[in-house]
Order: sequence, then structure tokens, then C-alpha cells
Amino acid sequence: MCAKLEQQQAHQITYEGLLKGNKDWVAATLKEDPQFFDRLSAGQAPPVLWIGCSDSRVPANQITNTMPGDIFVHRNIANVVTHTDMNLLSVLDYSVNVLKIKHIIVCGHYGCGGVNAALGDKQVGLIDNWLRNIKDVIRMHEREMSTIKDPQKRSDRLVELNAIESAANVMSTSIVQNAWASGQELSVHAWVYSLKTGLITDLQVSASNSDELSPVFKMKA
Ligand code: CO
Repeated sequence: MCAKLEQQQAHQITYEGLLKGNKDWVAATLKEDPQFFDRLSAGQAPPVLWIGCSDSRVPANQITNTMPGDIFVHRNIANVVTHTDMNLLSVLDYSVNVLKIKHIIVCGHYGCGGVNAALGDKQVGLIDNWLRNIKDVIRMHEREMSTIKDPQKRSDRLVELNAIESAANVMSTSIVQNAWASGQELSVHAWVYSLKTGLITDLQVSASNSDELSPVFKMKA
């Protein structure tokens, strides 16, 4: 186990500790790269938009070994993509049309609490309405889901299907379709991250044009 992780687990994270952590990070970063903040403060040109889960164990930069400035990030509970989410649509529009990012990655993770809650029938609260989107994924894939009896396997498969459906929802937005129609280089991918191994699996549903899109979602400009 790395020293940082041991340190984190040995004592509780405190409010003051966060601010001290920030100072330590700045000092360590400047020691390694004195121009780091000068360079980053000049602007950003990240090539990737990350749509992931809010889960504290799935931070986009750390798990892809990237740095500040590399990935534009949107996270919500269970990496849901819906077409009425103004927050997500704003992030998507800005990243595609202003930042001109090249890749959009929807990354789910095994053991996702949101996905597991959607598999159950217990009311949690307001979030039930958000997780209803994942119940739609179960309904869409009812035939496959009904053949999987093992609870762990049901959860794992739904995590994958949810990431795939979220990626499909990204592809069918007017934002992505217009970018493709204008010849912009843009690929959409679905990934899944394992909390147990730290490894990412590409779910192999990547698309870089509207050919794969169901005709029902295709729009003319
Ligand atoms: Co999650």
C-alpha cells in the first residue's frame, strides 16, 4: 500500500487537513515543475471529456495517470446521461464546440452504488427519480438481464449496460450529431473501471460518426 493511502486511512480527513494538503501539493508540484502553474493558468486545451460517476474512488485524472489540464470532467451519480440535464448539456456543448475535444468517454465502475440501488426496490429519496433512468436501462435490456440470476453478475452487467446506454445518449444529442455532420473529429466511448483491480476495460462501442446510430435518433441539420 502506498504511503499516501496509509496516511489517509490512518487519520480522518479534516477541513484543515485539506488546506494543508493543498499547500503540500503546490510545494511538491513546483519542486518538480517550477512553470506548472504559469503554464496552466494561460488556458486549457484538454483533448478529452470525461463523464463519470461522482464516487470518490473513481477520479478521472488519477486512474488515467493524467494531469490537471488533460481532461474536462463531468461527474454525477452513476454517470447518467439524460437529454434534459442542462448541466451535462452545457458541459457537452462547451467541450465539443469551444474546446473542440476529440474524445468523449463515459466511464462506469463496477460496484456502483447508484446502479445497485436501481436494481433494488428500496426507496432512498429524491435520488430515486434520478436512478429511474437506470431502471430504464434494465427495461431496455430486460431479456438479457432476466437471464442473469447471480446478484454480483447482474450488478456488473448493468454497470456495463448503463455506461453503454449513456454513451449512446451522448451520441444521439444534437450537439454530437452536428459536430459529426460538420466533419469534426470526435469519438464517443464507453469504459468500465474496476475498483478491485484499478483497471479500465474498453466496452468496444466506440463511434466516430452517426453510421451506428439508430435511425430513430438521426436528425437532419
Ligand atoms: Co458509482
